[in-house]
Amino acid sequence: MVRVTVPATSANMGSGYDSIGIALELYNVIDLAENDHIDISDKNGQYVPQDESNLIYQCAKRVYDECGKPLSGLTIVEDCAIPQTRGLGSSSACTVAGIMGANMLLGEPLDRNAVIDLAATIEGHPDNSTPAILGGFCVALLENGHVHHVRVPVHGAIDFVVFIPDFQLSTEKARAALPKTIDHHDAVYNLARAALLAGSLTTGKLENLDAATGDCLHQPYRFGLIENGEDIVREAKKLGALGAFISGAGPSIVAIVYKGDRDYITRAQELCEKHYPHWKAVQLRCDEVGA
Ligand code: HSE
Repeated sequence: MVRVTVPATSANMGSGYDSIGIALELYNVIDLAENDHIDISDKNGQYVPQDESNLIYQCAKRVYDECGKPLSGLTIVEDCAIPQTRGLGSSSACTVAGIMGANMLLGEPLDRNAVIDLAATIEGHPDNSTPAILGGFCVALLENGHVHHVRVPVHGAIDFVVFIPDFQLSTEKARAALPKTIDHHDAVYNLARAALLAGSLTTGKLENLDAATGDCLHQPYRFGLIENGEDIVREAKKLGALGAFISGAGPSIVAIVYKGDRDYITRAQELCEKHYPHWKAVQLRCDEVGA
């Protein structure tokens, strides 16, 4: 039996559409063992697909196939804390768990970069799976099946508060809402901000974060799919966040906060209780370890 522990991730961080993501201290823990049939269960009694359609199984099978090894079945036991379809990398966590679990069962034929490449290729974008594997704040570019990536140290003074709604939004639907082409001005708007974001997070120039997390490539098209999403971003900033944005494809919203602002989470929880009962606020640190 092998165990893979995969962190939640928040992709995009506003300006870094499909290229920037951060790992968060919230985990899916997946146990895998070879078996002569498929046996999939969830420790918490949540529904999980119990046949070949299970994403963890599919990704594990892909590793066996690519390594030319036969697979007759797997026992998979899931213990998942990452909420599903909320923009916090739950499907990426399953993809990474399947790949890394199979790789461990086979004696690690894939090195870390091959794992990163395969996970991003399966996902179609690298900004969840790369930080899920490496931990921390990552910039990643997927090109021709290869991920060019860098893990950038995050300045110690910040924490994250995640506003999670009680409704789901599929990544497919959130990607379908985006335009096929964009204006040159919009490309420059995001390019400058994404670069500013990476530099500001590293150096601790936190006063840049509000501008640096601004975006016009995806958020304006997605807010219409997230009831109260724009209100939460606005209110999160009013409460003192350094920046706030849609987490991944949504619907969750992430606020970057000063670590020293210990009461932010209380104010955020009160906001939800009083005005946005379909949302809850949770404080999460950056995961530094990865899967
Ligand atoms: N970058 C991706 C998107 C993340 O925004 O669609 C999906 O989790």
